[in-house]
Amino acid sequence: MNYLFAVLLMLFSVNSTDVTKTLDTATKEVTEVVLESNDQMKFNLSEIKVEAGTTVKLTLKHVGKLPKQVMGHNFVLLKKGVEMKDFAMTAMKAKDNDYIPESTDQIIANTALIGGGESTTIEFEAPEKGEYIFICSFPGHYALMNGKFIVE
Ligand code: CO
Repeated sequence: MNYLFAVLLMLFSVNSTDVTKTLDTATKEVTEVVLESNDQMKFNLSEIKVEAGTTVKLTLKHVGKLPKQVMGHNFVLLKKGVEMKDFAMTAMKAKDNDYIPESTDQIIANTALIGGGESTTIEFEAPEKGEYIFICSFPGHYALMNGKFIVE
């Protein structure tokens, strides 16, 4: 028993430098995601996969031409357990805040609302492993503009 413990301890000491290096790299790792949206009220991705423990750098592009007042798009990542429809209904009423309910505790991250030809980038820490939902919270868009955000 003691012998095994000693061996384990030794192995750990020998590898400790490498372990530290790996952890440092993992902390700094960035997963880049480019998500397009258009005048047809669609995202180009129905699924986004990122690695746990990474920083997500997400760029939302609006490749259409319509202004944000009529065809605005954003990316809103919902916390687990939040009902997409309920959130969207509440978000609809938050016009003054670009359809993000003020002081909401239901979202993990969101971009600004953009119109045709615009693009916006955000960075956030990937949440814990699991499946999440992202939507565009512009009124009436969530039914067509939603997808899975998978952390693995
Ligand atoms: Co939209």
